[in-house]
Amino acid sequence: MNITVVGTGYVGLVTGTCFADIGHNVMCVDNDARKIDMLRKLKMPIYEEDLEDLVRKNVEAGRMHFSTSINEGTDFAEVLFIAVGTPPGYRGQANLSYVEQVGRQVAEHMTSYRLLVEKSTVPVNTGEQLKRTVTKYLREDIPFDVASNPEFLREGTALKDAFQPDRIVIGVESERAASLLRNIYEPVVKRSGCELLEMNMASAELTKHASNSFLATKISFINAVSRVCELAGANVEQVAHGMGLDHRIGSRFLNAGVGYGGSCFPKDVDAFVHLSDQLGYNFQLLREVQKINQAQREHLMQKIQHELWVIENKTIAVLGLAFKPGTDDVREAPSLYFIPQLLEAGAHLRLWDPIASPKFEEIHPGLDYRTDIMDTVQGADLVLILTDWPEVRDIDLDKLKDAMRTPVMIDGRNIFDPKSVREKGFTYYSVGRP
Ligand code: UDX
Ligand code: UDX
Repeated sequence: MNITVVGTGYVGLVTGTCFADIGHNVMCVDNDARKIDMLRKLKMPIYEEDLEDLVRKNVEAGRMHFSTSINEGTDFAEVLFIAVGTPPGYRGQANLSYVEQVGRQVAEHMTSYRLLVEKSTVPVNTGEQLKRTVTKYLREDIPFDVASNPEFLREGTALKDAFQPDRIVIGVESERAASLLRNIYEPVVKRSGCELLEMNMASAELTKHASNSFLATKISFINAVSRVCELAGANVEQVAHGMGLDHRIGSRFLNAGVGYGGSCFPKDVDAFVHLSDQLGYNFQLLREVQKINQAQREHLMQKIQHELWVIENKTIAVLGLAFKPGTDDVREAPSLYFIPQLLEAGAHLRLWDPIASPKFEEIHPGLDYRTDIMDTVQGADLVLILTDWPEVRDIDLDKLKDAMRTPVMIDGRNIFDPKSVREKGFTYYSVGRP
């Protein structure tokens, strides 16, 4: 089947690549000519493991095409997936102007039936608004459908999540739309054995926001428990392990640390709170989830302050700029909180990340970016770990201690075993562990 995917960010590019790889003919459209130019040269605008190889394979097989023109995308396929950004707008409300713009452009150009599928995370009832927009801008009475098919792709494992999803959710209003989406996903369902759930559009939209908000709640819950653990002399890892073995709770997303970041959780929780407000429900629980997430960063900052006493003129090595390992994405990353604060306090910073430094540098140019961990920590008064990269896990602690001026480690990801690090002579602070 021919499919157009509008937006070649993490979501659009991974989704388009997956569709091509299961045999569909895919046109990826983006209004950023630089990105399309890169993709045509088989250069990836984002880092995601194995993505480049898979794009190359499908381009060479003639199943993947790139364009900057929505009109071309509208002509190309009966089904268009909308995967443009939905960044936070005014007071936490999702900014849907890009989604609206795509709806408008498709409506003005289409000459026969089209199915517009919302792939980006959008507030409930966006589908309805999109329908109104398309109806308004259609030049004649052409049939169309709008559907919701939320993405559940984690950066770093996005391709795996696309090919082997836990579930596929489609929100549809007609049998025609349902049947098109069932056909598109048939190879994924067959290979992975996952369920394809059909529901109405509002339910599909809410499933996405509720899922991400629940996962964020799980993280904030364990982070709150970590604070109690610190006060009670308990170990949050042992508590989380003990909780997680209960199948009703589950062990995943119970890692305490510096708090969640990324392009989705902070924005989606914000949007869900805002949307609930608009509908007339005060989602107090999620407001608290947000506060706990922020407090976790502030708490770690206090540990730095407490240990160094005076931050001014101290050399701090920051390990990890990405919001999680396996990606070069720094959107809402903890590093964006710590680095400006430490700079303001007068610290000399050395920054290390295996792949995210260029993206961080776009926001904070002119800082001291390093490519080698040992070079980064040489002569440092303190090491601050913000991302659990494998390279950080594998650090030779003896060499690290020898390289530093004073062996102080603040571990925002609970990477090391407190006892063995302290035995090596480090002053070591982590999250929720004695
Ligand atoms: C984004 C959201 O952040 C996420 O919550 C949602 O589920 C999907 O969309 P991501 O793919 O990471 O995820 O976004 P981003 O990297 O910003 O990519 C969006 C792409 O759309 C960009 O390449 C941008 O150039 C493109 N775009 C944006 C268009 O092609 N047309 C527009 O009008 C606006
Ligand atoms: C998320 C959703 O999981 C995915 O389904 C899709 O909707 C996009 O958004 P992503 O943001 O890529 O994926 O990363 P995820 O693995 O969910 O982690 C989000 C943040 O939570 C990261 O900053 C991570 O470090 C943090 N996290 C995760 C914790 O602090 N503790 C945990 O136990 C798990």
